[in-house]
Amino acid sequence: MTPVGMDVREALDCNWKVVIDAFSEGYHIIGVHPELLSVIDLEAGNSRHGFFGDHGMAVSPFEVKRTAECSLEEQVEGIRSLPGTFPTVAEVLPRFEEMVAVHRDADGVLSFPEGMTVRTLLQQATRETLTAKGLDVSALADDQMSDNQGWFLFPNFFMTIRAGEATTIMAYPHPDGDPNKCVWHVTAYMWLPEEVRAQYRAQPVEVTEPNSYPYFLALQQDYEQMPRQQQGLRNKGLDHMSLIHEELSIARFHTVIDRYLADKAA
Ligand SMILES: [Fe+2]
Repeated sequence: MTPVGMDVREALDCNWKVVIDAFSEGYHIIGVHPELLSVIDLEAGNSRHGFFGDHGMAVSPFEVKRTAECSLEEQVEGIRSLPGTFPTVAEVLPRFEEMVAVHRDADGVLSFPEGMTVRTLLQQATRETLTAKGLDVSALADDQMSDNQGWFLFPNFFMTIRAGEATTIMAYPHPDGDPNKCVWHVTAYMWLPEEVRAQYRAQPVEVTEPNSYPYFLALQQDYEQMPRQQQGLRNKGLDHMSLIHEELSIARFHTVIDRYLADKAA
């Protein structure tokens, strides 16, 4: 795939492990990415985790809440907000909108037949859009059209991937040696037909002026949150932290680090 849209390195005011923590659980969307609340179901136990040696993966399905407080129109609006977090969804939205329009009556009221949800419509729109571009997705399941799988390769590589797109995040100790700083490297990839790949290739960017790079919405929110997390961790009153089920990947990450540190000290 071709780096599209971004290939960015920037120093951050947080330890490199804070970056890994920030991409290892989904429930922080309540406080940090509130616009995603209508499209990601945070019911406990819905996210799945898997561990492979020191590495791991997790997936939280896009599963729009079908409750009284979230109407069909609000669910559709939630899908429209997705490009703020997953920019490539923007190219799927025109087909998605066409499919939604078919299900409005003469007064514009939206209703779906039994078994159809905004999730299944998004999956179908994604499959049709990628196929029309020339990407063969026939071997991929419907959930791979919609759900982002987060892969973590120990110690410092994170990638979120689904059909046709991936974003990678790497975090490095800062060359100054200051444990309160790090450097992150973010790269966005997208499948493109061969004839247009060169045209959309992202140029590497080194950001030297804080808050000067226009990250897409969700990354900007994480970018602003991580230095605050660092300050919280440096709070002298902090003795220990209790982690919940959704933070299983964080617990695993720090357990592996502790093991390496203990081995080194031995
Ligand atoms: Fe985040």
